[in-house]
Amino acid sequence: MRDGHAYDAELPKGISRSRPLPDEKLGALWDSIVIEEETKKQLLSQAVLNFTLRGKVDRTVIPLHGVILLTGEPGTGKTSLARGLAHRTAMAFRGGRFKLLEVEPHSLTSSAMGKTQRAVSDLFSQAIAEAAMSGPTIVLLDEVETLAADRSKMSLEANPIDIHRATDAVLVQLDALAERFPDLLFVATSNFPDAVDSAFTSRCDLVLRVPLPDRTACGQILRDCLTGLGRTYPEIGRLASAPGFDRCAQECVGLDGRAIRKMVANALACRQEVAMDPAKVTLDDVLRAAQRAKVNRAGGKSK
Ligand SMILES: Nc1ncnc2c1ncn2[C@@H]1O[C@H](COP(=O)(O)OP(=O)(O)OP(=O)(O)O)[C@@H](O)[C@H]1O
Ligand SMILES: [Mg+2]
Repeated sequence: MRDGHAYDAELPKGISRSRPLPDEKLGALWDSIVIEEETKKQLLSQAVLNFTLRGKVDRTVIPLHGVILLTGEPGTGKTSLARGLAHRTAMAFRGGRFKLLEVEPHSLTSSAMGKTQRAVSDLFSQAIAEAAMSGPTIVLLDEVETLAADRSKMSLEANPIDIHRATDAVLVQLDALAERFPDLLFVATSNFPDAVDSAFTSRCDLVLRVPLPDRTACGQILRDCLTGLGRTYPEIGRLASAPGFDRCAQECVGLDGRAIRKMVANALACRQEVAMDPAKVTLDDVLRAAQRAKVNRAGGKSK
Protein backbone atom coordinates (compact mmCIF):
# COMPACT_ATOMS: atom_id res chain seq x y z
CA MET A 1 0.00 0.00 0.00
CA ARG A 2 1.16 3.49 -0.86
CA ASP A 3 -0.84 6.69 -0.35
CA GLY A 4 -3.47 4.50 1.21
CA HIS A 5 -4.16 2.87 -2.18
CA ALA A 6 -3.65 -0.67 -3.26
CA TYR A 7 -0.86 -0.84 -5.84
CA ASP A 8 -0.50 -4.54 -5.35
CA ALA A 9 1.12 -6.89 -7.74
CA GLU A 10 -1.86 -9.18 -7.29
CA LEU A 11 -4.11 -7.00 -9.38
CA PRO A 12 -5.36 -8.77 -12.52
CA LYS A 13 -3.50 -8.04 -15.73
CA GLY A 14 -4.62 -4.78 -17.27
CA ILE A 15 -5.79 -3.24 -14.00
CA SER A 16 -3.32 -0.78 -12.58
CA ARG A 17 -5.23 0.26 -9.51
CA SER A 18 -8.28 -0.60 -7.49
CA ARG A 19 -9.62 1.53 -4.68
CA PRO A 20 -12.71 1.85 -2.55
CA LEU A 21 -14.93 4.89 -2.97
CA PRO A 22 -15.58 7.52 -1.90
CA ASP A 23 -12.06 8.88 -1.76
CA GLU A 24 -11.61 12.48 -0.67
CA LYS A 25 -8.43 12.84 -2.73
CA LEU A 26 -10.46 12.22 -5.85
CA GLY A 27 -12.99 14.76 -4.62
CA ALA A 28 -10.19 17.32 -4.50
CA LEU A 29 -9.34 16.46 -8.12
CA TRP A 30 -12.94 17.06 -9.19
CA ASP A 31 -12.92 20.44 -7.46
CA SER A 32 -9.56 21.41 -8.94
CA ILE A 33 -10.76 21.13 -12.53
CA VAL A 34 -12.19 24.42 -13.74
CA ILE A 35 -14.90 23.88 -16.34
CA GLU A 36 -18.48 25.06 -16.72
CA GLU A 37 -20.48 24.04 -13.66
CA GLU A 38 -23.22 22.85 -16.06
CA THR A 39 -20.79 20.40 -17.65
CA LYS A 40 -19.88 18.91 -14.28
CA LYS A 41 -23.56 18.63 -13.40
CA GLN A 42 -24.35 16.91 -16.68
CA LEU A 43 -21.53 14.45 -16.18
CA LEU A 44 -22.52 13.62 -12.64
CA SER A 45 -26.20 13.26 -13.51
CA GLN A 46 -25.39 10.85 -16.32
CA ALA A 47 -23.28 8.74 -13.98
CA VAL A 48 -25.97 8.75 -11.30
CA LEU A 49 -28.65 7.78 -13.81
CA ASN A 50 -26.56 4.79 -14.76
CA PHE A 51 -26.94 3.39 -11.26
CA THR A 52 -30.60 4.34 -10.74
CA LEU A 53 -32.21 3.46 -14.05
CA ARG A 54 -30.29 0.65 -15.67
CA GLY A 55 -31.27 -1.98 -13.16
CA LYS A 56 -34.96 -1.13 -13.52
CA VAL A 57 -35.66 -0.38 -17.17
CA ASP A 58 -35.32 -2.92 -19.93
CA ARG A 59 -32.53 -2.37 -22.43
CA THR A 60 -34.97 -2.68 -25.30
CA VAL A 61 -36.57 0.54 -24.02
CA ILE A 62 -33.44 2.56 -23.15
CA PRO A 63 -30.30 0.86 -24.43
CA LEU A 64 -27.83 2.23 -21.90
CA HIS A 65 -24.40 0.59 -22.01
CA GLY A 66 -22.94 2.29 -18.97
CA VAL A 67 -20.20 4.10 -20.86
CA ILE A 68 -19.25 7.78 -20.70
CA LEU A 69 -16.54 9.09 -23.02
CA LEU A 70 -14.55 12.24 -22.31
CA THR A 71 -12.63 13.63 -25.26
CA GLY A 72 -10.41 16.67 -25.61
CA GLU A 73 -6.89 17.90 -26.06
CA PRO A 74 -4.12 16.64 -23.76
CA GLY A 75 -4.01 18.31 -20.38
CA THR A 76 -7.62 19.48 -20.31
CA GLY A 77 -8.46 17.52 -17.16
CA LYS A 78 -10.18 14.42 -18.55
CA THR A 79 -8.51 11.84 -16.32
CA SER A 80 -8.90 14.07 -13.26
CA LEU A 81 -12.58 14.54 -14.04
CA ALA A 82 -13.09 10.82 -14.59
CA ARG A 83 -11.53 9.97 -11.22
CA GLY A 84 -13.38 12.80 -9.52
CA LEU A 85 -16.63 11.65 -11.10
CA ALA A 86 -16.17 8.21 -9.58
CA HIS A 87 -15.87 9.80 -6.14
CA ARG A 88 -18.84 12.11 -6.62
CA THR A 89 -21.03 9.32 -7.93
CA ALA A 90 -20.22 7.17 -4.89
CA MET A 91 -21.00 10.18 -2.67
CA ALA A 92 -24.42 10.47 -4.30
CA PHE A 93 -25.20 6.91 -3.17
CA ARG A 94 -24.02 7.11 0.40
CA GLY A 95 -23.09 3.72 1.78
CA GLY A 96 -23.16 2.13 -1.66
CA ARG A 97 -19.82 0.25 -1.40
CA PHE A 98 -18.59 1.62 -4.72
CA LYS A 99 -15.13 0.98 -6.06
CA LEU A 100 -12.95 2.36 -8.83
CA LEU A 101 -10.81 0.22 -11.12
CA GLU A 102 -8.26 1.81 -13.42
CA VAL A 103 -7.36 0.02 -16.63
CA GLU A 104 -3.89 0.37 -18.08
CA PRO A 105 -4.47 -0.30 -21.79
CA HIS A 106 -0.81 -0.53 -22.76
CA SER A 107 -0.27 -3.53 -20.53
CA LEU A 108 -2.83 -5.43 -22.62
CA THR A 109 -1.42 -4.81 -26.06
CA SER A 110 1.08 -7.41 -27.03
CA SER A 111 3.11 -8.08 -30.10
CA ALA A 112 2.28 -11.75 -29.91
CA MET A 113 -0.51 -12.72 -32.27
CA GLY A 114 -3.83 -13.30 -30.54
CA LYS A 115 -2.52 -12.19 -27.15
CA THR A 116 -4.13 -8.74 -27.11
CA GLN A 117 -7.56 -10.04 -27.95
CA ARG A 118 -7.28 -12.69 -25.26
CA ALA A 119 -5.99 -10.19 -22.68
CA VAL A 120 -8.85 -7.78 -23.45
CA SER A 121 -11.45 -10.55 -23.26
CA ASP A 122 -10.04 -11.82 -19.97
CA LEU A 123 -9.94 -8.34 -18.48
CA PHE A 124 -13.59 -7.65 -19.22
CA SER A 125 -15.10 -11.09 -18.78
CA GLN A 126 -13.12 -12.02 -15.68
CA ALA A 127 -11.52 -9.16 -13.75
CA ILE A 128 -14.16 -6.52 -14.42
CA ALA A 129 -17.07 -8.95 -14.22
CA GLU A 130 -15.78 -10.23 -10.88
CA ALA A 131 -15.52 -6.71 -9.51
CA ALA A 132 -19.00 -5.87 -10.76
CA MET A 133 -20.39 -8.95 -9.02
CA SER A 134 -19.14 -7.70 -5.69
CA GLY A 135 -20.85 -4.28 -5.85
CA PRO A 136 -21.24 -1.05 -7.83
CA THR A 137 -18.11 -0.55 -9.90
CA ILE A 138 -16.71 2.33 -11.93
CA VAL A 139 -13.96 1.54 -14.43
CA LEU A 140 -11.62 4.17 -15.82
CA LEU A 141 -10.59 3.34 -19.38
CA ASP A 142 -7.89 5.91 -20.04
CA GLU A 143 -6.68 6.40 -23.62
CA VAL A 144 -9.43 4.17 -24.90
CA GLU A 145 -8.30 4.61 -28.52
CA THR A 146 -5.61 2.03 -27.69
CA LEU A 147 -8.23 -0.59 -26.86
CA ALA A 148 -11.04 0.40 -29.18
CA ALA A 149 -9.03 1.58 -32.18
CA ASP A 150 -11.01 2.61 -35.23
CA ARG A 151 -11.08 -0.53 -37.37
CA SER A 152 -11.97 1.37 -40.52
CA LYS A 153 -8.74 3.36 -40.34
CA MET A 154 -6.45 0.40 -39.81
CA SER A 155 -4.20 -0.68 -42.55
CA LEU A 156 -3.65 -4.36 -42.05
CA GLU A 157 0.03 -4.00 -42.91
CA ALA A 158 0.72 -1.28 -40.36
CA ASN A 159 -1.58 -2.60 -37.65
CA PRO A 160 -1.60 -6.24 -36.74
CA ILE A 161 -4.95 -7.92 -37.14
CA ASP A 162 -4.67 -8.63 -33.43
CA ILE A 163 -5.51 -5.00 -32.61
CA HIS A 164 -8.48 -5.21 -34.97
CA ARG A 165 -9.68 -8.20 -33.01
CA ALA A 166 -9.05 -6.41 -29.73
CA THR A 167 -11.58 -3.75 -30.77
CA ASP A 168 -14.05 -6.51 -31.66
CA ALA A 169 -13.44 -8.08 -28.25
CA VAL A 170 -14.04 -4.77 -26.43
CA LEU A 171 -17.37 -4.33 -28.22
CA VAL A 172 -18.53 -7.88 -27.57
CA GLN A 173 -17.54 -7.62 -23.93
CA LEU A 174 -19.18 -4.22 -23.44
CA ASP A 175 -22.45 -5.64 -24.73
CA ALA A 176 -22.18 -8.67 -22.48
CA LEU A 177 -21.31 -6.62 -19.38
CA ALA A 178 -24.06 -4.07 -20.08
CA GLU A 179 -26.54 -6.95 -20.16
CA ARG A 180 -25.32 -8.57 -16.95
CA PHE A 181 -24.33 -5.69 -14.69
CA PRO A 182 -26.47 -2.56 -14.37
CA ASP A 183 -24.25 -1.34 -11.52
CA LEU A 184 -21.19 -0.99 -13.71
CA LEU A 185 -20.04 2.24 -15.32
CA PHE A 186 -17.11 2.79 -17.66
CA VAL A 187 -15.62 6.25 -17.90
CA ALA A 188 -13.36 6.38 -20.94
CA THR A 189 -11.04 9.16 -22.07
CA SER A 190 -9.36 9.93 -25.37
CA ASN A 191 -7.22 12.65 -26.91
CA PHE A 192 -8.01 11.22 -30.31
CA PRO A 193 -11.77 10.83 -30.66
CA ASP A 194 -11.34 10.21 -34.41
CA ALA A 195 -9.15 7.22 -33.62
CA VAL A 196 -11.85 5.58 -31.49
CA ASP A 197 -13.98 3.03 -33.29
CA SER A 198 -17.41 4.43 -34.16
CA ALA A 199 -19.10 1.30 -32.82
CA PHE A 200 -17.54 2.09 -29.44
CA THR A 201 -18.66 5.73 -29.59
CA SER A 202 -22.12 4.60 -30.57
CA ARG A 203 -22.30 2.53 -27.38
CA CYS A 204 -21.45 5.55 -25.21
CA ASP A 205 -24.37 6.99 -23.25
CA LEU A 206 -22.67 10.39 -23.22
CA VAL A 207 -19.76 11.74 -25.23
CA LEU A 208 -18.49 14.93 -23.70
CA ARG A 209 -15.83 17.17 -25.18
CA VAL A 210 -13.71 18.78 -22.49
CA PRO A 211 -12.68 22.15 -23.93
CA LEU A 212 -9.56 24.23 -23.46
CA PRO A 213 -10.16 26.72 -20.66
CA ASP A 214 -11.66 30.05 -21.75
CA ARG A 215 -10.44 33.43 -20.47
CA THR A 216 -12.35 33.21 -17.20
CA ALA A 217 -11.28 29.62 -16.59
CA CYS A 218 -7.64 30.51 -17.35
CA GLY A 219 -7.83 33.23 -14.70
CA GLN A 220 -9.31 30.78 -12.21
CA ILE A 221 -6.68 28.10 -12.88
CA LEU A 222 -3.86 30.64 -12.59
CA ARG A 223 -5.37 32.04 -9.39
CA ASP A 224 -5.80 28.55 -7.95
CA CYS A 225 -2.19 27.77 -8.74
CA LEU A 226 -0.83 30.98 -7.19
CA THR A 227 -2.98 30.74 -4.08
CA GLY A 228 -1.99 27.09 -3.72
CA LEU A 229 1.67 28.14 -3.79
CA GLY A 230 0.69 30.91 -1.38
CA ARG A 231 0.12 28.28 1.31
CA THR A 232 3.88 27.76 1.26
CA TYR A 233 5.02 31.17 0.00
CA PRO A 234 2.55 33.88 1.08
CA GLU A 235 4.23 36.39 -1.30
CA ILE A 236 3.22 34.25 -4.28
CA GLY A 237 -0.35 34.00 -3.02
CA ARG A 238 -0.57 37.80 -3.03
CA LEU A 239 0.24 37.90 -6.76
CA ALA A 240 -3.25 36.53 -7.44
CA SER A 241 -4.76 39.87 -6.51
CA ALA A 242 -1.94 42.15 -7.67
CA PRO A 243 -2.16 44.50 -10.68
CA GLY A 244 -0.87 42.64 -13.70
CA PHE A 245 -2.65 39.41 -12.81
CA ASP A 246 -5.33 39.94 -15.46
CA ARG A 247 -2.72 40.40 -18.16
CA CYS A 248 -1.10 37.08 -17.19
CA ALA A 249 -4.50 35.35 -17.21
CA GLN A 250 -5.20 36.77 -20.66
CA GLU A 251 -1.86 35.44 -21.89
CA CYS A 252 -2.85 31.94 -20.76
CA VAL A 253 -5.74 31.78 -23.24
CA GLY A 254 -4.88 29.01 -25.71
CA LEU A 255 -3.06 26.91 -23.11
CA ASP A 256 -4.60 23.84 -21.50
CA GLY A 257 -4.95 23.52 -17.73
CA ARG A 258 -1.86 21.38 -17.35
CA ALA A 259 0.19 23.83 -19.43
CA ILE A 260 -0.96 26.74 -17.26
CA ARG A 261 0.17 24.99 -14.08
CA LYS A 262 3.44 23.94 -15.68
CA MET A 263 3.98 27.47 -16.94
CA VAL A 264 3.85 28.71 -13.35
CA ALA A 265 6.49 26.13 -12.45
CA ASN A 266 8.59 27.44 -15.36
CA ALA A 267 8.20 30.96 -14.02
CA LEU A 268 9.63 29.75 -10.70
CA ALA A 269 12.62 28.43 -12.63
CA CYS A 270 13.07 31.51 -14.82
CA ARG A 271 16.14 32.69 -12.90
CA GLN A 272 18.40 30.88 -10.50
CA GLU A 273 17.71 33.51 -7.87
CA VAL A 274 13.98 32.72 -8.06
CA ALA A 275 14.59 28.98 -8.18
CA MET A 276 16.62 29.33 -4.95
CA ASP A 277 13.87 31.40 -3.35
CA PRO A 278 10.54 30.96 -5.20
CA ALA A 279 8.94 33.73 -3.10
CA LYS A 280 10.85 36.19 -5.33
CA VAL A 281 8.87 35.34 -8.47
CA THR A 282 7.07 38.32 -10.03
CA LEU A 283 4.07 38.66 -12.30
CA ASP A 284 6.50 39.74 -15.03
CA ASP A 285 8.18 36.33 -14.71
CA VAL A 286 4.77 34.68 -14.97
CA LEU A 287 3.83 36.76 -18.00
CA ARG A 288 7.06 35.89 -19.79
CA ALA A 289 6.65 32.21 -18.95
CA ALA A 290 3.11 32.30 -20.34
CA GLN A 291 4.30 33.99 -23.54
CA ARG A 292 7.02 31.39 -23.94
CA ALA A 293 4.56 28.54 -23.33
CA LYS A 294 2.32 29.94 -26.05
CA VAL A 295 5.19 30.24 -28.53
CA ASN A 296 6.33 26.68 -27.79
CA ARG A 297 2.80 25.41 -28.17
CA ALA A 298 2.34 27.19 -31.49
CA GLY A 299 5.70 25.80 -32.62
CA GLY A 300 4.71 22.29 -31.61
CA LYS A 301 1.41 22.56 -33.47
CA SER A 302 2.83 23.73 -36.78
CA LYS A 303 5.24 20.82 -36.93
N1 LIG B 1 -9.67 22.79 -16.61
C1 LIG B 1 -8.68 22.64 -15.71
N2 LIG B 1 -8.73 23.31 -14.55
C2 LIG B 1 -7.75 23.17 -13.64
N3 LIG B 1 -6.69 22.39 -13.78
C3 LIG B 1 -6.59 21.67 -14.91
C4 LIG B 1 -7.59 21.77 -15.93
N4 LIG B 1 -7.24 20.96 -16.94
C5 LIG B 1 -6.10 20.37 -16.56
N5 LIG B 1 -5.70 20.78 -15.35
C6 LIG B 1 -4.49 20.36 -14.63
O1 LIG B 1 -3.71 19.58 -15.51
C7 LIG B 1 -3.34 18.35 -14.92
C8 LIG B 1 -3.53 17.26 -15.95
O2 LIG B 1 -4.88 16.91 -16.01
P1 LIG B 1 -5.36 15.49 -16.53
O3 LIG B 1 -4.29 14.50 -16.42
O4 LIG B 1 -6.66 15.20 -15.88
O5 LIG B 1 -5.60 15.84 -18.08
P2 LIG B 1 -5.96 14.88 -19.28
O6 LIG B 1 -6.99 15.61 -20.08
O7 LIG B 1 -6.32 13.55 -18.78
O8 LIG B 1 -4.60 14.84 -20.08
P3 LIG B 1 -4.10 13.71 -21.11
O9 LIG B 1 -5.06 13.78 -22.25
O10 LIG B 1 -2.74 14.16 -21.48
O11 LIG B 1 -4.14 12.41 -20.39
C9 LIG B 1 -4.21 18.16 -13.70
O12 LIG B 1 -3.44 17.78 -12.63
C10 LIG B 1 -4.83 19.50 -13.44
O13 LIG B 1 -4.19 20.07 -12.35
MG1 LIG C 1 -5.49 11.66 -19.13
